[in-house]
Amino acid sequence: MLNKINDAKTQYASDILHVKTPKDLEDLRIKYLGRNGLVSVLFEEFKTVTPEEKRVLGKELNFLRQELQSKYDDLKETIEKAAKLNAPKIDLTLPGRQTKAGSGHLVAETMMEIISIFKKIGFSVITGPEIESDKNNFEALNFPADHPARDMQDTFFINKDFVLRTHTTPVQVRIMENQQPPIRAIMPGRVYRNEAINARSYCMFHQVDGIYIDEKVTFAELKGTLVHFAREYYGSSVQYKFRPSFFPFTEPSAEMDITCFICGGKGCRVCKHSGWLEILGCGMVDPNVFKYVGYDPEKVTGYAFGMGIERISMLKHDINDIRLLYENDVRFLKQF
Ligand code: DAH
Repeated sequence: MLNKINDAKTQYASDILHVKTPKDLEDLRIKYLGRNGLVSVLFEEFKTVTPEEKRVLGKELNFLRQELQSKYDDLKETIEKAAKLNAPKIDLTLPGRQTKAGSGHLVAETMMEIISIFKKIGFSVITGPEIESDKNNFEALNFPADHPARDMQDTFFINKDFVLRTHTTPVQVRIMENQQPPIRAIMPGRVYRNEAINARSYCMFHQVDGIYIDEKVTFAELKGTLVHFAREYYGSSVQYKFRPSFFPFTEPSAEMDITCFICGGKGCRVCKHSGWLEILGCGMVDPNVFKYVGYDPEKVTGYAFGMGIERISMLKHDINDIRLLYENDVRFLKQF
């Protein structure tokens, strides 16, 4: 057995010369020091020798194990150091990696642009909750009980009394209930409609409403304000027209169209060959709304308007599918 121990030493001394990589080193460990390695095999054999032999051989075997282990440890350290030195070095002369700066989402940017135009002419910005009472969303705004907008088809009901607001107009009610005229405010925010999702409509979108309430506010002032807005947002050469329309909370009501800026009014796909684009709804606040909030309709008058932010930005940037705004595909978003 003494011979076997000596042979192991010689063999190890020669094997160790061929170790170059961490993999070689691991193979060496397994062959000699592993659970079924040569050293273990010798210790197994050691159990079978006579007690006299054990005294000599025990010492030798322990020496063997210590020697192999310590040579292995030394070599391991050397190999690990070499691996570190060979690791690719940092080239400090390389230009830094550019981090791409993010930007605001098109809807948020459009909203800010609209807000800033109205802020400059004295409108304050007021927001309200997205979960709104049925009262504020419909009743206070003079929606008859059987109005189709109150239908389950259009409205997400939280329960009998609360809805996900279907427009930002209920914020007008909140403001009027809490303040006395004169009031000049815009109300941006998110709104919800229970509609099938397609290229033209989404279950969630954004609006900005506006009101000006005082004594003797006229329709001419409403027109002046909205024409100012259209010129600021679409450019000073924009042509416009006001068409009679209907909203339960305004009387008279109108919609504002501008000349299609894609085709300059000649007619194209975007304006459905009419040359005109509808950009907002507006009107004089209905006396019934004033009554609901406790204002005297004989004394106060006011105008209101509301527009869809997605619609406005889609028209401006010729985007033909509203879903693009919510898919968060960076290739789309970074164009704006
Ligand atoms: N709330 C209307 C809608 O969602 C838009 C609107 C029209 C708001 C006329 C107004 C307004 O404040 O005066 O379609």
